[in-house]
Amino acid sequence: MAIPEETKFLFEIEFGLGAWAWGDRVFWSYGKTHTDIDIKEAFDTSIDAGITFLDTAEVYGQGRSETLIGEFLKSTKKPVMVATKFMPFPWRVRKSSLVNALKHSLSRLGLSSVDLYQIHWPFPPLPVEHWVEALAEAKQNGLARTVGVSNYNKNQMQRAYTVLAKYNIPLASNQVEYSLLDRRIEKNGVLQRANELGIRIISYSPLAKGILTGKYSSENPPPGVRGRQYSGILKEVQPLLRLMTEIGQDLGGKTSAQIALNWLICKGTLPIPGAKNAKQAEMNAGSLGWRLTDEQVKLLDVASDKLNK
Ligand SMILES: NC(=O)c1ccc[n+]([C@@H]2O[C@H](COP(=O)([O-])OP(=O)(O)OC[C@H]3O[C@@H](n4cnc5c(N)ncnc54)[C@H](OP(=O)(O)O)[C@@H]3O)[C@@H](O)[C@H]2O)c1
Repeated sequence: MAIPEETKFLFEIEFGLGAWAWGDRVFWSYGKTHTDIDIKEAFDTSIDAGITFLDTAEVYGQGRSETLIGEFLKSTKKPVMVATKFMPFPWRVRKSSLVNALKHSLSRLGLSSVDLYQIHWPFPPLPVEHWVEALAEAKQNGLARTVGVSNYNKNQMQRAYTVLAKYNIPLASNQVEYSLLDRRIEKNGVLQRANELGIRIISYSPLAKGILTGKYSSENPPPGVRGRQYSGILKEVQPLLRLMTEIGQDLGGKTSAQIALNWLICKGTLPIPGAKNAKQAEMNAGSLGWRLTDEQVKLLDVASDKLNK
């Protein structure tokens, strides 16, 4: 399927930067593991490395992530594309809440429009169609260059596509969890249908929230909620991590994080890893400019298949 002219730019972006941890205290321990100074350095390092696509959301740090990005954008002359998201909380019922929420996001970001506005989750009670109609309005008002969805299954994605098509607006993207530890979109039809419809898949939690960097183990689990989320898999993931280390060595010293991110690029998707500081940002940016061989991708597929039953 040909990609619509309007959304082509998203397919030209190989890699982005996720900003959930920028301001989030509950899950990501903002203020303890990373400060505003660390985050600014992560931003500067990424921009200097040629990363031009940032993903945030109105709910990240209750707006703090957008506010920080707004401040950082003032400090650079380089063009940076910003994607943010609308959360369809159950108490939001009017379609106008979406455009109102977008206006608040734009004010925090200091922008007159975003490059991509996404519906964060297909939460009930309102049907997909309700919020996608509102998304079309945001696009028609010129507040969003393109529009997308997130966490939509194949059927919901198709319905969003169909609603937007009535307005002659392409569905630009579906942002979903995708990594060597979560390959559901390969099996549930989302990846294939997105490719058929010319919808860009944006891969979130591409490092499985840090597990695929290889720095955590059952003896040294990640803190808090993450530790509980991944406690079952930390032992089982070790053979995959060993393979990633071997492949990294064969490639002249690539890290496990870089292997995990490059694998997603090889799968034709746009990974948006989070980075809390300059060191992480620099390492993640090192996933660009080279490719795993087909053989290496296959080896990683086989090793991760065992963890994706
Ligand atoms: N649409 C959605 O529903 C949704 C859901 C989740 C995420 N997202 C988006 O996707 C982005 C990325 O996902 P994510 O933040 O969940 O997970 P991720 O990118 O898989 O992992 C990010 C975390 O891994 C660690 N890390 C990152 N790079 C590293 C490196 N090079 N070396 C060592 N550790 C490193 C850091 O945490 P520690 O240092 O604490 O280990 C960092 O916060 C988010 O920022 C957000 O924009 C969207």
